[in-house]
Formats: sequence, structure tokens, C-alpha cells
Amino acid sequence: MGSQWTKDKVYIKAMREGYRSRAAYKLKEIISKHPVLWESDNVIDLGCAPGSWLQVLRESVSGDIIGIDLNYFPPIEGVTTIIGSFTDPVVIANVREKMPVVNVIVSDASPKLSGHKSYDQAVAIGLNEDALSFAIEVLKPSGNMIMKSFEGEDFPFIFKKMQKHFFSVKAYKTKASRKGSTEIYIIAKKFKGKEFKLDDEEQEEEW
Ligand SMILES: C[S@@+](CC[C@H](N)C(=O)[O-])C[C@H]1O[C@@H](n2cnc3c(N)ncnc32)[C@H](O)[C@@H]1O
Repeated sequence: MGSQWTKDKVYIKAMREGYRSRAAYKLKEIISKHPVLWESDNVIDLGCAPGSWLQVLRESVSGDIIGIDLNYFPPIEGVTTIIGSFTDPVVIANVREKMPVVNVIVSDASPKLSGHKSYDQAVAIGLNEDALSFAIEVLKPSGNMIMKSFEGEDFPFIFKKMQKHFFSVKAYKTKASRKGSTEIYIIAKKFKGKEFKLDDEEQEEEW
């Protein structure tokens, strides 16, 4: 199963089960292996279109859910949608107003790829940094985060940066990802909080 599935089989399975994309099975696999979501949690999904992670989240928690994407996608019942970039201060202010307590952030956000490997890796890791900055702004202390990243020369940089802000950080490759894919998920637990102070050396590295 998993990585042995062909694209068509997974796609057909997703459509048959009512999911908007095969990505649903990645989140299902992650949350079945890593306890990051609790039934009553409020969750934000970054880069959520077309919405299969939102569907899985709606099945998994009774708390509020907000999905943010650059692109419009058809709404999902019981989910609040914000169309815009999660890097936009107006979007961040909107999130704060709509969801005063954020327990979990998930991010499957991907940049548009150019086909140039090292350039694409740098852009993807930059997007990871943006997702972490968003989390630092809105995530509740002790909250959890799941973030898609990509293996490559810059991956250790973002992994270490996550370790500075969360007490527990692991990397996990999903079986449901396409064979040969470099995508890898960072599972970060127990956010240290916005007020947590990095020591001087770490701050120099940050900025
Ligand atoms: C792989 S798709 C997500 C699939 C989604 N998890 C699902 O299950 O349907 C990646 C998404 O990230 C979005 N994205 C990339 N950068 C973004 C940003 N700065 N703000 C919001 N969305 C972004 C893209 O528009 C794209 O829809």
C-alpha cells in the first residue's frame, strides 16, 4: 500500500471516498502516527486549497477550523475560509479576530516550482520560515504544528529553527507521498510561546 499505489489508484480512492485530493491520506497517516490533534482543538490550515486536509480536519476535531490559501476554492461546511497569503499582516489580524485560541497549525503550503532544484528548495524553505513566523504570532503556547518541507541542503536549517521554538520536533516521510518525492513533514510539539527568548547566539542566527 502507500508508496506502491499508483497515482490513478490513489486519486480514484480519494474521489470515491469524497476527498478533494490524494493529499487527504498524508494528513490521515500523520495524525494516526503522531498525536498532535485533540478532539476539541481549534486548527488553522495554511495553504489549504483545494481542501482535502480541511475535510480530514473537519472529521477529526469538533473545534473551529480556518483554512487559508492564495487561491479561491469551493467552501467546506463548518470551515472558515480566508483567501490571501498567511504572510499578510491583514490576514494575520483577521485570524486573531476569528480564532483567539489556536491549538494546532497544519501547513501543506507549497510554492510554485520553477524546475530548478536548488532554487525551488530555497523558496520552499523560505515559505517554511513564513509559516513558522505565522505560528509564532498566533499559536498558543504548548500548541502543535505539522509542516510540509522538502529534503535538501536547506532542510537542516528549518529543522533547527523549529527546534528553537518547539520542545519536540521530528521529521516524518509519509507513505502516501508520491514515490521519489522529496517532501517531508515536520511534526513540532509544544510551542515555547511568542515570549520565549532565544539566547544571544541563537538570535544572531535567526536574524
Ligand atoms: C499542495 S497544495 C495544498 C493541498 C491541501 N493540503 C489539500 O489537501 O487540498 C499547496 C497550496 O499552498 C498554497 N500556498 C502557497 N503559498 C501560500 C501562501 N503564502 N499563503 C497561502 N497559501 C499558499 C497554494 O496556493 C496551494 O494551493
